[in-house]
Amino acid sequence: MIRVLGIETSCDETAASVVALEAGKKPVILSSTVFSQIEEHAAFGGVVPEIAARAHVEALDGIVEAALEDSGLSLADIDAVAATAGPGLVGGLIVGLMTAKAIAASSGKPLIAINHLEGHALTARLTDGLEFPYLLLLVSGGHTQIVLVRGVGDYQRWATTIDDALGEAFDKTAKMLALPYPGGPNVEKAAQSGDATRFVFPRPMKGSAQPDFSFSGLKTSVRQAATSVAPLSDQDVADICASFQTAVTDTLGDRVKRALARFRAEYSHVATPALVVAGGVAANKQIRACLEALCAENGFSFIAPPMWLCTDNAAMIAWAGIERLRAGLAEPDAFDFVPRSRWPLDSVSAPVVGSGRRGAKA
Ligand code: KG4
Ligand code: ZN
Repeated sequence: MIRVLGIETSCDETAASVVALEAGKKPVILSSTVFSQIEEHAAFGGVVPEIAARAHVEALDGIVEAALEDSGLSLADIDAVAATAGPGLVGGLIVGLMTAKAIAASSGKPLIAINHLEGHALTARLTDGLEFPYLLLLVSGGHTQIVLVRGVGDYQRWATTIDDALGEAFDKTAKMLALPYPGGPNVEKAAQSGDATRFVFPRPMKGSAQPDFSFSGLKTSVRQAATSVAPLSDQDVADICASFQTAVTDTLGDRVKRALARFRAEYSHVATPALVVAGGVAANKQIRACLEALCAENGFSFIAPPMWLCTDNAAMIAWAGIERLRAGLAEPDAFDFVPRSRWPLDSVSAPVVGSGRRGAKA
């Protein structure tokens, strides 16, 4: 039996969780506590790093205590402490990793430094027991990537955004249309009563031989459309949202289709290939329907962990800790580990042009 306490503080969720794994059994999430700071950032239309760091300091002790209490365990029963050490906002990472170091040092437990993206990448093994290799589509406020997951610590990035992340594009579109933060759910809601054919927005990178994503040109087109019909009626806003959502779905579908074909070609021996989605944008119904259809057409199973495990949480961090312990891949000198605001999952693939411009979230 392995029981790990996980801590997540890389953006605007303060989270702690205890996950247990008994040999030969399915893993169990004994507790998962997530405190979302959305209200503290809403007035600013986005995450403010200093406010986030301060809120983590204030909340984390109580969140860890609650996660331990909900799990019915005490610190003495825990085998290791796993904490997100990057990528993300450095203030929050320092709070989480230092707290984890203190808990681990004072209780004599091992500490495991976790890459937040690895947490997202391995979640489908916690929820669905998925076997390697599989494809991961991560679409959040800070990342838009297609990653080949070959094993624990063994990732290959097949595509990334060369400018904005997809969630960021939703958030910026919302801001331009004076819709509340966070933008994604509000753009989706407005789009429901909109005419998706009224505005013809570009489909950046669609059909390109380069596998990556781009969303900043689309954002400019949204701004131009909004300016051209201002002052905006509710129907104008709905039509822009519907047209935008259709454009991003179309582009995303094209990029994912390409990756599915590559997986088929390179991993023809995998009998039941799978595409896993993670990140807040995976909640979008139009995008989800498009991905499900693509998977069905291409013989892939579509794996979407429950939404609370797709967005930021600490169960995925505790689970990544368990996976690393099992694989003998826990950092031996994690107490010396310095938080990394940038930490690519795949250190081999070269950064793409413009990839420095990413959002705050991971
Ligand atoms: O994974 P997440 O909760 O946090 C990180 O970025 O790590 O993702 C948040 C992002 C935000 O940009 C939000 O606008 C977007 O996911 N989002 C959505 C929807 N729900 C959340 N985007 C489109 N449609 C949605 N329904
Ligand atoms: Zn995340």
